Amino acid sequence: MTVAQAQPNIALIKYWGKRDHARNLPATGSLSLTLDTLWTRMDVRFSDSGGADRLSVNGAEDTPMLARVSACLDRLCGPGRPPATIASTANFPVRAGLASSASAFAALVTAASAAAGQSRDRQALARMAGAASGSAARSLYPGIVELTVDDEQISARTIIAVDEWPLRIVVAITADAAKPVSSGEAMSRSAATSPFYGAWVERQDHDLEAARSAVRRRDFERLAAVSEHNCLKMHSVMWTSRPAIVYWNAATVACMETVHELQRAGVPVFFTIDAGPQVKAVCLPDAEARVAEALSSTPGVQRVMRSGLGEGARVLGSGDP
Ligand code: DP6
Repeated sequence: MTVAQAQPNIALIKYWGKRDHARNLPATGSLSLTLDTLWTRMDVRFSDSGGADRLSVNGAEDTPMLARVSACLDRLCGPGRPPATIASTANFPVRAGLASSASAFAALVTAASAAAGQSRDRQALARMAGAASGSAARSLYPGIVELTVDDEQISARTIIAVDEWPLRIVVAITADAAKPVSSGEAMSRSAATSPFYGAWVERQDHDLEAARSAVRRRDFERLAAVSEHNCLKMHSVMWTSRPAIVYWNAATVACMETVHELQRAGVPVFFTIDAGPQVKAVCLPDAEARVAEALSSTPGVQRVMRSGLGEGARVLGSGDP
C-alpha cells in the first residue's frame, strides 16, 4: 500500500474550457494557490490476485467516480496493470466546488506511481493528473502555481514559494450538496453556447500576465482586481450558456457583498468562486481574523475554513498493510 496526500488549489485566473477533449487539454493557461489545511489522502494497493478496481470515498463504495479513476490508472500504468483497491479520504466537502477532484487526482497519480515502483518526475505526474482533471495538474506544485498549455501538453510550475508571500484563504461554505452539473460538462456547454466564450479565451493571456506581474511584485491590490474580474468573467460565460449554468445561491452573493464592504473599509481581501456556491476570500495575514468573522456572520454561511499556502502532492508512506 502507498498513501499520498494532495491539497486542493484555488484558481485566481481560471481554467474554463478545453482545446482537446480527448486529451483533456485546457483552452488556456491558469494561475492558482495550493492550500494547506484542506487535503485528500489516497491509499492505493495493487493486488496480484485478479478482480476489478475498487474505490471508496470517505469509507463508502463510490461507483460514479470509479471509471475516471480506473482510466487514470490505465494511462499511468498501462491497460495490462493489476487491479487496484483505492481508498480516498478528504477532510472537506467533495464535488461541491472546492476543487476536490484536483486534490484527488493529484494524490492518486502520486500514490499509484509510487505503488507501481515508477520514477516519474513531478511534471510527468502533473500531466497524468491533468489528463484526468485539468485543475489537478496544479496540485502537484506548492505555493502560487502557473499552468501553461500548448497544442501538445501542459506544463505547471511554482512561481512563488509557500513562504515568499503568506497569503491567507478563508473559505465560506454556503452549501454542502454536490454540484448539479460537473465542471467538464458545464465547460462543453459554455464553449458550445455562450456568446462570450470566444472573448473569454482571447483575454486569458492578458489576465494571466496581469496576475503574474502582480504576484511577482506582491501587489495585492492589482492581484485582487484581476482575480475578481477573471472570476466574474468565467461566471458570466456560465450564466450566458444555454441552458444557463448558475452555481451561486443567495449566500454566495451575500458573501461577495461582505467582501466588498470589507474592501471599502480598507481591508486587503478579494473573492473568487469556482464551479459551486462556496466563496473563497483571499487576504493578507493581518486581515484574516476580521475576514473570517465577517464571513461567518454573513446570512446563509454554514461555516468557514481557513488555510494558508501549502505543499504540492507527496507520498506520506508505504509498506505492508
Ligand atoms: C472552475 O479541473 O474540475 O475550478 O478537467 O473537466 O476535470 P475537468 O475540470 P476541473 O475544472 C476546474 C474548473 C474551475 C476553475 C479552475 O480550477 O481553474
